[in-house]
Order: sequence, then C-alpha cells, then structure tokens
Amino acid sequence: MLLPTEIKYDLKTKILAQEIHSYKVLKSTNDLAFALAEASAPEGTLVLAEKQNKGKGRLGRSWFSPPQLGIWMSVILRPALLPSQAPGLSLAASLALVLTTKELTGLEAFIKWPNDVIVNKKKFCGILTELSAELDKINFVILGVGINVNHTQKDFPESLRNMATSLRVETGSKISRIDFLKRFLEKFEKIYLQYRKTGLLTLKDECLRHFYLLGKKVKVQVGIEIFEGKAENLDENGALILRTKEGLKTIT
Ligand code: BTN
Repeated sequence: MLLPTEIKYDLKTKILAQEIHSYKVLKSTNDLAFALAEASAPEGTLVLAEKQNKGKGRLGRSWFSPPQLGIWMSVILRPALLPSQAPGLSLAASLALVLTTKELTGLEAFIKWPNDVIVNKKKFCGILTELSAELDKINFVILGVGINVNHTQKDFPESLRNMATSLRVETGSKISRIDFLKRFLEKFEKIYLQYRKTGLLTLKDECLRHFYLLGKKVKVQVGIEIFEGKAENLDENGALILRTKEGLKTIT
C-alpha cells in the first residue's frame, strides 16, 4: 500500500500531503476529499485509495481503478483565485505529471488539453477537477488524479485497450508508485505556487512545449456547440485558443 509514513518520509513539500487519508478501498477519492473539504480539511490534504469502486471520470464517465496498479488520489486546494482560473489548475497538474514521467521513466508524455496526459498517443493519466465556489471566489478545488502505473495490457478491460496505457506497458518495467507519487507532489507544489501568483502566464511556454494539440486541426465540443480550427495557443487561465474560419476563438 501507499502508506502515509512512507509518503511523508523526506517529502519536500510545505503544503501538499501534510495530512494524508489513505484507504484500501473507496468509492471515489474525489468524493471523500470533497466531504473532507466541506468539513474544513486544510489545503493540501491528500486522499488516496488502493482501489476505487466508483472511480469518476469527466463528463459522468467512470474511471477504471483496480487495486495496487495505479495511483488514485485527490488533493484539496484552496487557492485565492477566481472560479474562471480553476481550469488552469488541471493544466498545471498535467505539466507536473509530464515532467515527473520524463524524470522517472524517460518517456516523453504530452498534455492532451483539457485534462489528459498521454504517451505514444494513449492515455495513462486523467484529471478530474471539481469545484466549490461562489460567483467571485473559489471555496476549494478537488484535484483528482488517476495514473495508470503498473498495469499490463491484460489488466485493462478490452474496451479500453486501444486508448489506455500504463507506464509499465510503455517502459516494459515496473515503476515505483511511491517514488512517482512523491516526485509528482513535489513538482506540482512548485508549479501550483507559481500558478497562484501569475496564473498560466509564466508556465504557458512550458505547457506548450509538451502540448499534444499544438498546431493540429481539432474539433472541440462544448455543450452542444462544436468548434473547428487549428490549436494555436493557451490563455492565462488555461483556455484553448483556436484559429477558426471566423477568427480566434477562446475555448474554456
Ligand atoms: C478523466 O480522464 O475522465 C478523469 C479521470 C480522473 C480519475 C481520478 S482517480 C482519482 C480521482 N477520484 C476519482 O473518482 N476520479 C479521480
């Protein structure tokens, strides 16, 4: 198991994972983190589960969360930001995941806007950011991160095999979950502090260096609208700037 004492040992963070709740099984780490945040848990509180029975993906999808093979975690954040700045936190986390992956495995991972991290065109990380906010103020953000670490191809259900991968599948060897988790927390804390100060402004260039969609023709569905164009840039909140036939369009 990913044990709190092992995680905290020599962990170089000041905010993240000072408080850790780790479980063998949970429905969803995001749900427990949300309840803890509503009950005033401090910023940085980390919730982990070895297995999720009802792991949640974006847009009401489920997230495959088998025991011991991945890192299923949620972090409580309490940034003094506007709700419109929340989406950039997913990008900030994606950047930390890309950099951690490079350092620990040598793999070249990419941010697939808005919330995925991919390697060799397959997804191995998903991020689900949930928000409690008033019109002009974030109460808290739950940053839920799922990382497929030690799955073999056979561990994935057939329906996922074409699009999902794990670090083990891509490198051919097992990866230490604890090392990955700690390195991610350390990297993300630095990036998060930066984001709190400047938004994506000072992080944008690095995000774009690892941005899968950059320069590609894409179709983006937002609610019932579909936008088509070339992915050209990001704004300071993490919105995608598309060059469409009608001109530049910013998509949140
Ligand atoms: C997606 O790609 O659709 C987002 C997946 C997010 C999965 C993680 S696993 C830990 C956390 N708890 C959840 O229930 N979901 C997120």
